[in-house]
Formats: sequence, structure tokens, C-alpha cells
Amino acid sequence: MAGPLPLGDPAPSDGRLPPDLAIDASVPFSAYVHIPFCRVRCGYCDFNTYTSGELRGARQEDYADTLSAEISLARRVLSEAGALRPMDTVFFGGGTPTLLPAGDLARMLERAVDAFGMADGAEVTVEANPDTVTPAVARTLAEAGVTRLSIGMQSAVPHVLAALDRTHQPENVRTAVEAAKDAGLAVSVDLIYGAPGESLADWEASLDDALSLESDHISAYALIIEDGTKLARQIRRGEVPRPDDDLQADMYELADARLAGAGFEWYELSNWARSDDQRSRHNLAYWRGNDWWGFGPGAHSHVAGLRWWNVKHPAAYAQRVAASESPAAGTERPDAKAHLLERVLLESRLAEGLAIADIPVQNRDRVAGLIADGLIEGAAALRGRVRLTLRGRLLADAVVRALTG
Ligand SMILES: C[S@@+](CC[C@H](N)C(=O)[O-])C[C@H]1O[C@@H](n2cnc3c(N)ncnc32)[C@H](O)[C@@H]1O
Ligand code: SF4
Repeated sequence: MAGPLPLGDPAPSDGRLPPDLAIDASVPFSAYVHIPFCRVRCGYCDFNTYTSGELRGARQEDYADTLSAEISLARRVLSEAGALRPMDTVFFGGGTPTLLPAGDLARMLERAVDAFGMADGAEVTVEANPDTVTPAVARTLAEAGVTRLSIGMQSAVPHVLAALDRTHQPENVRTAVEAAKDAGLAVSVDLIYGAPGESLADWEASLDDALSLESDHISAYALIIEDGTKLARQIRRGEVPRPDDDLQADMYELADARLAGAGFEWYELSNWARSDDQRSRHNLAYWRGNDWWGFGPGAHSHVAGLRWWNVKHPAAYAQRVAASESPAAGTERPDAKAHLLERVLLESRLAEGLAIADIPVQNRDRVAGLIADGLIEGAAALRGRVRLTLRGRLLADAVVRALTG
């Protein structure tokens, strides 16, 4: 079930934050709520999620109450540290959040709003599998304060969906999108490219279908072969081909051209939005290094440079919170060098780019070479920012290595 957690240092059992943490209460605060349940596990996925046979006694029916206990703990810990702020964004991710009754999601949101308050115009996203979104679900979520639904479409092509082990019917994506729009929710769809057997023409068909849904936001991820997944085993045994890097690059270029042609603008390597206010503010909060509390099994948190992560299994998580203990399994405080590396890694993926002033001094002279190689934009560099060109987006890892190595 997903890779191991980082090692880190032991986390205090009462969850308290170190007294010397330099908390800046003007930094926006976000909440991530992990819902660790799926009906079946897709062959490519190593997220921290469990099917009903893997729950070892943890009960989906109890999850909203179990998680609410961590909300109370977070409120106490943050107020003791002077770090309590209203939530700017909330994200219910998974797993499959919409496998829980919409009323349970609404209850968790209500508890979080009671505990932290909500900033004006806050963004509240729920991830959903297409089969789990009915008009009634969409309405309940909207009435509870959800503003945005992120739907796992992945592909419109039946043999690609089958290669990914997806169980939804392609036509259910449209039904889910319509239900969300009718309820007044903003809509994002997730796509994956580079599945075994997927041709450029298949990918083009999925892009065209996704565009015909007229969503506000599209994420397109290159399929990653994660260790320990069924797909990784199939590839190792030679049963299915490994994704081809050159084909995935062609697919990225096609996506960017098609999406740009339809009025979408990239704002992060794998994310496109119709306008600035339709970008995922929650994901931007991660990429910009804001503060967030991750609730639920395996969830990661970050406050003022301190990171911690919860125990992974829902049963272990439920035991901890039932004993009034923090569910945190480990914690770490990256040093200045690790922090800088992380900033370059995340911010260089953004269209707003990375400040040249944030690049380690000894590496700044490499900027000219990256411009000459067509990997970053000369005009942006004159304004003091590193911004990837299309070629740079395809070779982002090499750019990061050049800036940090
Ligand atoms: C963890 S899923 C949660 C949403 C929902 N359960 C679903 O699958 O529709 C979030 C997104 O991560 C992406 N994803 C998961 N595993 C991936 C992988 N190995 N490679 C690329 N994208 C992946 C998928 O696009 C998926 O929609
Ligand atoms: S439905 Fe989503 S979270 Fe669940 S296994 Fe599939 S990709 Fe992973």
C-alpha cells in the first residue's frame, strides 16, 4: 500500500509544535483531508488507499468522526502556537472521497470550519471518480460549501481505461461534469498519458473529449510506473511495454498545443486553467510553500518549515486518535540547503517561475547557458525570473539539476 513513509524524527505524542518555530500568521493556511478508500485499486496507483478487504477493522462509517478528532487536536496545537488562521483552501483527496456519503464529507468540512474558520472566497475541492458523482451528491457538496470538483477522467478511450484498470464507463465522465456544473461547482478533469498501448491518436481523442466537456481546469499527468504496483510487476514480467519517453514527450507537446488552442493556459507543468482564478489555489499553496495541515492516515503537513506525516494505515490512525494521541508518525525540519533545493524544484515548475535571487549564488551563472539551450526564457530572466520554455518543460529535471547541482 504505497511506498514507505520518510524516516524523520519521532513526533511528540501530543502533537505540539516546537516553541522556536517562526510562525508567520500572514502566510495563508490550507487543509488537506485524506480519504483513504477505493472500491478497487487501479494497477498504476500507489497512493495511500485501501479497498474494503484491506481495512483491518477500520470502518468507513466511522471515518468522519475519527477525522474530526484530529481536527480538534489541530485546533488546540495551532492555537497554543499562535498559528490559528482561517482556511484559505481545503482539499478532500484520496483515495476516493466520493466513496463516502456526501453528508460525511459535509460534516468533516463543517467541523473544520468550526475549528479554523474560512477565509473569504475560500476554495474547497473534492476529488471524485466519475461513477460516484450523481446530481444529488453534487448538490449536497455545493450546499455544504464545496466550490470545485476534480474528476478522475484519465482517458476517453476504452482500451486505455482498461490498461489503467479503470472501472468507470467513459460516458459517466460527462454525466459527472454536468451534475457538478448544474450544482454550480467549478470543474477540473484529470488525464493520464502514456498508458501501455496508448497511441498519439488515442491521446488526441482523449484531449478532444476532455475539451468538449468545457471544464475550467485540466490536469494531464505522464503515467509514472510506481514500484510495488501491479503495473510495475506486469512491465517487469514483460507482459506490457514500459511507457516510451519520446512518445510521452510528443503527448505533452500535443496536450499543450491543443489546450492552449482551446484557451487554457499552463500555470504548472501538468496543469492548465482557463483563467487565473480557475487555477488550483490549493496546489499552488503547496508549490509556493505555504502552511497546511494534512488530516487523515499518511497525510503530510507543513507549518513554518516544519514537516510531519501521519501513520499510514486507517486502523493505526483510528487507534491513535481514539487514545487522544497525535497520529503523527514522524517529523523533520529541512536545513537551509534542503529547503532551497525544494523551493527550486517546485517553483521552477510554475509558469510564474522562480526568482533568480533564490538560486544558490554559485549556480546563477548557469542561467545564461540555459537560455542559450532554449530551456528557459530570456525575457523572463531579464525580469529576474527563471521561466521554462516548452522545451524546458520537457526537460525540467535537467534544468533543476543545473540550478542546484
Ligand atoms: C490519487 S488520484 C485521486 C482521484 C480519484 N481516486 C481518481 O483516481 O479518479 C489523483 C490523480 O492522480 C493521478 N495519478 C495517480 N497515480 C498516478 C501515476 N502512477 N501516474 C500518473 N498519474 C497518477 C491520476 O490522474 C488521478 O486522477
Ligand atoms: S481510484 Fe484513484 S486513488 Fe483509487 S486506486 Fe484508482 S487512481 Fe488510485
